[in-house]
Amino acid sequence: MSSPINSYITANKDRFLNELLDLLRIPSVSADPKYKADVFKTADAVKDRLIAAGADNVEACQTAGYPIVYGEKIINTSLPTVLVYGHYDVQPPDPLSLWTSPPFEPVIKNDKIYARGACDDKGQMYMHVKAFESMMKTNTLPCNVKFMIEGEEEVGSNNLGIFVKANKEKLKADVVLISDTSIIDNKVPSITVGLRGLSYMEVEVTGPNRDLHSGVYGGAVANPINVLADMISSMKDKNGKIMIPGFYKDVELVSKKERAEMAKAPFNKKAYMKELGVTELKGEKGYTPNEQTSIRPTLELNGIWGGYIGEGAKTVLPSKAFAKISMRLVPNQSSEKISKLFDKHFQKIAPKSVKVKVSYHHGGEPVVTPTDSIAYQAASRAMQDTFGKKPIPVRTGGSIPIVALFAKELKLKSVLMGFGLDSDNIHSPDEHFGVFNYFKGIETIPLFFKYYMEMQK
Ligand code: BES
Ligand code: MN
Ligand code: MN
Repeated sequence: MSSPINSYITANKDRFLNELLDLLRIPSVSADPKYKADVFKTADAVKDRLIAAGADNVEACQTAGYPIVYGEKIINTSLPTVLVYGHYDVQPPDPLSLWTSPPFEPVIKNDKIYARGACDDKGQMYMHVKAFESMMKTNTLPCNVKFMIEGEEEVGSNNLGIFVKANKEKLKADVVLISDTSIIDNKVPSITVGLRGLSYMEVEVTGPNRDLHSGVYGGAVANPINVLADMISSMKDKNGKIMIPGFYKDVELVSKKERAEMAKAPFNKKAYMKELGVTELKGEKGYTPNEQTSIRPTLELNGIWGGYIGEGAKTVLPSKAFAKISMRLVPNQSSEKISKLFDKHFQKIAPKSVKVKVSYHHGGEPVVTPTDSIAYQAASRAMQDTFGKKPIPVRTGGSIPIVALFAKELKLKSVLMGFGLDSDNIHSPDEHFGVFNYFKGIETIPLFFKYYMEMQK
């Protein structure tokens, strides 16, 4: 295919790649204040790139936290508008020692770009900037576009929520387009039609009023780490069912027909286990791994600590134990309700020997997006053109809390047209993004715009 836009993309391939590498060199870790200056620097870099690509009214909108980069190209106010959302912040790179090459010194190995944020989400967000540039330079942008690129997605998008509520007119659009998810395989394209919600809690269990000698007091005084471990293990039964009363009450049951449809997506259990280095899969009984990670809610320990964890051995009966616990939610569970149920249950199961404190981190609501919309159909046709195969609609286990807010506050549906792979190690050491996937995105996005316009009646 050598349409003018494809020729433009091919002619600028090296530059498109190098610009992404430059962006990946700035460590925009939103969770850790030590990177604060770099997160701001990244916002400015994104702003400059949007201006260079041809966007108007570009600004790094200040918030109580990190800036939201906004830009637009309004070619005709009577035409539809696509709002592109993405995030320029990244997860912390820890544990550093497990990276093959430094996380903020991107390298290309085996046709993959290795760096923190390569896939989630700088690489995928930047595909949109380059697709936009390519449409501008070849005079093929068919409708209006607005960009909203935030810097706090990995920490809960709190300020974006405020921004969206305060800027409804500015953000007026017809659909939201997001590339922050994955496809099944480079040969099996898919479009995400469901995201799970999230309730993220932190618990603190306190036993004695100070750390004690584990020989002098051990045996007579409850150890808060043991107590916490017991409490946690009581929260799931042997079938993987979560034991918090009311937890499943609002869970939407997916029809047999839809489950049969989902089961058509290719899944190789052996390859899945091998890739993860596990010899058995374990999840809620009665559901397939694909269902367990998409249409069923979960409860996971993300971190647990307490007592002495330094070098060597220290005999201690600690005063406190802690854990970070997250629950992934499915339609129609509510993050607020589930957080409260967890809190109540955790207080209730605590034995008299300890005091417990439960605190709430961020949360978000689950979403399901339609497949019968013009926007979904446009994305499907665009991917069919570039992959040579019709994409399969799939629900995924991850969360992008702001998507539910777009629906609620802006009354906008989102199309989750991502190009990553689940094996790209997002949030893990050696995160990467295929060069193939990066350019597939840059090629597909303009086709989305084209079909989205063509299909309007
Ligand atoms: N891009 C991910 C979400 C994602 C990844 C969806 C892969 C589908 C497939 C996003 O950046 C993310 O990591 N979200 C967090 C939630 C957030 C509140 C920290 C998540 O899912 O843990
Ligand atoms: Mn992301
Ligand atoms: Mn992420």
